[in-house]
Amino acid sequence: MLYLDNRFMEVALPIIEHEEYQQMRYIKHHDESVFEHSVKVAFYAYQMTYKQNLDWESTIRGALLHDFFLYKFKKCFSLRIVTDSIKHAIVHPKIAFDNAVKFFELNEKEENIIKGHMFPFGFPKSKEAWIVSFVDKYIAVFEYSSNIKKMMQKKQPAYQAE
Ligand SMILES: [Fe+2]
Ligand SMILES: [Fe+2]
Repeated sequence: MLYLDNRFMEVALPIIEHEEYQQMRYIKHHDESVFEHSVKVAFYAYQMTYKQNLDWESTIRGALLHDFFLYKFKKCFSLRIVTDSIKHAIVHPKIAFDNAVKFFELNEKEENIIKGHMFPFGFPKSKEAWIVSFVDKYIAVFEYSSNIKKMMQKKQPAYQAE
């Protein structure tokens, strides 16, 4: 459980409380909702940028909106998973940005945090954008592995007495 401090919440709240942003609570991503994933990425990236005296406010806003794509990305176990995943990796930063500017005013750094977060499909241009891209990938690895663990547990045959 994350303890989201007041400094973080002051910047994050206008985005988190927004009606459209709340839609992300219902979209599954890796092992949780896009909402939970995005808040987690924003919080860890904020902690890193705050410690390094970087632009932590733009980091929070950009990171919160980095996956604001508002559609369900369904994965099925077939060959299509590869092409669909690549397509999603390429297009979702642009879709997230297009959605974000409909509801929020963004500066250049925030724009690039969103558009560049899927390196090497996009390119982060600031330290803050590199940090968000790194934190996003780092967290995704944990979310994926926890998802796979859950799927494996479901597939375990029930114990049968001889
Ligand atoms: Fe993403
Ligand atoms: Fe993400």
